[in-house]
Amino acid sequence: MEESENTKRIVIRFLPSDREVEIEKGTDLLTAALENDVPIATQCKGNARCGCCLIEIIEGSNNLNKIGIDERDYLPRKEMRLACRARAYGPVTVRCVQDPEAITKNRSTRLRKDSEFEVGGPDLLDC
Ligand code: FES
Repeated sequence: MEESENTKRIVIRFLPSDREVEIEKGTDLLTAALENDVPIATQCKGNARCGCCLIEIIEGSNNLNKIGIDERDYLPRKEMRLACRARAYGPVTVRCVQDPEAITKNRSTRLRKDSEFEVGGPDLLDC
């Protein structure tokens, strides 16, 4: 039996902004956030090399993929993940660790239309 379009979509809730976004199952949470204008810091283009995209998992950790080797060293607590490495397969509520207002004011990393990141100049986020 083929999955319907509706069952391929899930809802992610981002705190503290309390934004709910609908994404396709298997999407990483950094992409989910940036495609929906939820600010999350990133300097490494989502390659698990900067540790800026830390998020706290509030609910639904069982709906995420397992923590990978490339992610482990960046996680200060077990309920935290790198948004760029956390892929969601069911509803999840997460809290962005970085101050969203500070990120919005000094946002130098943006998601381009072709889904590639463009990293800004010398005013990169100090995360
Ligand atoms: S974006 Fe750099 S570690 Fe996730």
